[in-house]
Amino acid sequence: LSVENQNIISAYEWLTKLYHHLLRYTKDGKDGYRYFRDRGISDETIDEFQLGFAPNIKDFTATFLEKKGFHKQLLVKAGILTLQSDDTVTDRFRGRVIYPIRNHLGKTVAFGGRTITDQGPKYLNSSESDLFHKGKILYNFDLAKKHIRKKSEVILFEGQMDVISAYQAGVKNVVATMGTALTEMQAKLLRRYVDNVIICYDADNAGIEASYKAATLLQSVGCQVKIAKMKDGMDPDNFIQEIGAEAFKTEVIEASDTFMTFYMNYLKKDYNLSLEGDRLQYIENVLKELAKIDSPIEREFYVKELSSEYDLMMDTLLEEIQVYRQKSDTPKDKSEKDRYTNKVQKPYQ
Ligand code: CTP
Ligand code: MN
Ligand code: MN
Ligand code: MN
Ligand code: MN
Repeated sequence: LSVENQNIISAYEWLTKLYHHLLRYTKDGKDGYRYFRDRGISDETIDEFQLGFAPNIKDFTATFLEKKGFHKQLLVKAGILTLQSDDTVTDRFRGRVIYPIRNHLGKTVAFGGRTITDQGPKYLNSSESDLFHKGKILYNFDLAKKHIRKKSEVILFEGQMDVISAYQAGVKNVVATMGTALTEMQAKLLRRYVDNVIICYDADNAGIEASYKAATLLQSVGCQVKIAKMKDGMDPDNFIQEIGAEAFKTEVIEASDTFMTFYMNYLKKDYNLSLEGDRLQYIENVLKELAKIDSPIEREFYVKELSSEYDLMMDTLLEEIQVYRQKSDTPKDKSEKDRYTNKVQKPYQ
């Protein structure tokens, strides 16, 4: 680590403590404290995540850190201060609750700041730096790591509040992308630690679209993926706070869909299934996806569903799947390919 990056980490350490102290113990931070408590977050959780409050004073942070010997230039690089067009600097976080964003070693390398007054963007993050690239970090990965290993499973959320509520409720193998855009880097990072990923994004359009993308990406790096579903409009934090942790575990996490079940629903949005032509196309596309599944038992499971829902013969569907499997130019390996090309006539036995 360069001296400069060590100094940036040290600035974040000071500031994390300061913002947390203000929120927890002072009048200047009481709006932030109230905000978290009103959202169901306990003192203990506030401490565990080092949640804080940045007062609404434009040079509060700059003054504090300069007294500690940090140079303005460094603090701009760190994403803590913002350079104005007239070359002066101002605090980036003002009047916001603060979520320290830790890297996988547990060092804070950025902040997320949420408005508590609906002013400006809902969340504002530190600008990107040597130490902080949003696409390379997963929120809470450092605390979740050992729980991910123990459960051989990770739950992937969109946001900080989803992670914090779940963690507080005892579901600790949880991380967040801080948005809906999972990157290949993040997918590979997860892959190094775990096989099984449950995607639990918000139950809105953006969340569902992003779930599909994330699932595809995670599968492409070799993860087993499931997708959790909640009632329209909910997110994991709402669900836990309004309906409860127990229901979250049993009705959302344990009841999450396999990729195929999710996909069969997801794909429906492109078709009007009361039209015969659309229905056929829909089924063809489902079969194409089914052809990618290597386990015959698994394939049959979904074929049964399709067959009863659309009143088609299972044999016909299974035959069609074999056709797609032969066409597929990316067999897992040669023996895999041979196994299926040898069984053209009687596709499923
Ligand atoms: N986000 C962001 N900037 C925004 C909005 C969102 O960086 N302007 C990120 C945040 O990390 C946020 C996540 O995307 O947690 C998911 O966004 P959203 O679902 O809109 O927010 P919630 O996490 O549900 O936030 P809250 O419950 O506090 O409203
Ligand atoms: Mn504390
Ligand atoms: Mn969202
Ligand atoms: Mn949300
Ligand atoms: Mn939310």
